[in-house]
Amino acid sequence: MLFDKLKEYTKNGIYPFHMPGHKRNNIDEDGIIPYEIDLTEIEGFDNLHSPNNCIKNIEEKAERLYSVNKTFLLVNGATCGILSSIRAMTRAGDKVIVARNCHISVYNAIEICSLEPIYIMPDLLDDFGINNSIPPLQIENALKNNPDTSLVIITSPTYEGIVSDIRSISDICHKYGAKLFVDEAHGAHFPFSDRFPSESVQNGADVAVVSLHKTLPSLTQTALLLTNDNSICNALQANLSIFESSSPSYILMASIEKCLDYIIENGDGFKNYTDNLDSFYCKTQNLKNLKVLFNQKNIYSSYFDYDFGKILISTSGTTINGKKLAKILRENYKIETEMSYTNYVLAMTSVCDSEQGFTRLADSLIKIDKELRMNPQSECHIITELPCKRFKSSQRFNFTPQVISLKNAENKISLEYIWAYPPGIPIIVPGEIISNQIIDTIFALKKNNIDIYSSEKMVPNFITVAKTD
Ligand SMILES: Cc1ncc(COP(=O)(O)O)c(C=O)c1O
Repeated sequence: MLFDKLKEYTKNGIYPFHMPGHKRNNIDEDGIIPYEIDLTEIEGFDNLHSPNNCIKNIEEKAERLYSVNKTFLLVNGATCGILSSIRAMTRAGDKVIVARNCHISVYNAIEICSLEPIYIMPDLLDDFGINNSIPPLQIENALKNNPDTSLVIITSPTYEGIVSDIRSISDICHKYGAKLFVDEAHGAHFPFSDRFPSESVQNGADVAVVSLHKTLPSLTQTALLLTNDNSICNALQANLSIFESSSPSYILMASIEKCLDYIIENGDGFKNYTDNLDSFYCKTQNLKNLKVLFNQKNIYSSYFDYDFGKILISTSGTTINGKKLAKILRENYKIETEMSYTNYVLAMTSVCDSEQGFTRLADSLIKIDKELRMNPQSECHIITELPCKRFKSSQRFNFTPQVISLKNAENKISLEYIWAYPPGIPIIVPGEIISNQIIDTIFALKKNNIDIYSSEKMVPNFITVAKTD
């Protein structure tokens, strides 16, 4: 095991005339930061960019666990896997079909690869104001209208846990000669209980990326790239060597191996985890004002599948918004949630959550719910119309920038991305025309204290547009 090798190495008395500059000295008085085992590519420690020894062993372990032909370890998050996959699966200028609810990293890949995106806007799920599954028919229609598409890019599960029908979508993509890339960042735990949706590569996706750090016990930034397509592996490796650090952290790689071993040795943990989820949903099924998505049996049929490890609580129709619910949970109940939006709060769970944690969240929601009143006027702020596009995002630096007030920006062409984080989905992309709906949405999100970011500055009262005269 890599971790044991790193620990063993600390005892051998070899003097480090090499990186990292801390020379394995513990400069942290509390001794928490693991300097001692923070090594680099020295003799016997393999190389992430051409693994054939201890790093290859970890990849092979992951291949067995995820039942795929090939995995690549990622230490710069799912982000570097997304950039690498999209570049490996396209040629500059290609047409790609993209679900509009993709993470900003997909848009960055589109820009740097000069791709021509055809967007698909998934529907909204009532009361929750989140994007629903992507209907396979929508992909088929887009492919019929754009038969020269080389790649289809979708996110499944979404941040909120909504899963699309990957089997049907991959069959359609392949029928039209396109490949399918799935950003499965939030689905790294899917193979480990049959209570979770099935994994995308098993359902025909050509390449998928899973973020280990999001839903499994692995350090932040760790992820895996998965594929069954041997013909694409060289291109994936070549692109990973561009987008991933040439000094990958051995601590992060050791944490990937620890995570995989934990899964192998703790099969029962997932049974406890899903039992805890079951009792959470059972306890919260009679809430009067708040709505927990998995308990809304009436909307089961509208999505293809759902990861019930994501606890999504809607505040729609009540006197508080999602931000306020998150604040009450934090300040009154000492519970920090993953994210809150205008009309919901998302609590992320994992196999490492305790029974007490689930009980605390359920009891807190029951108490909060009793004190809430209904307000039929609560709002949901999500863009439902695709903006018109004037030019590709990759052309944005060909235009003269002009900074103007956002409230005067209607009909101007944006030269920047604007997104709320989380979830990190762009509201507007360079090259798109700024509509009134977009301006209103940004102001409404700001009013609801949602953090808005742009490529130029945070919380934009101003926006950079293409100068027209
Ligand atoms: C859907 C989705 N894809 C990709 C990413 C990027 O993942 P990472 O933070 O592992 O780079 C995120 C991050 O939150 C995400 O939500």
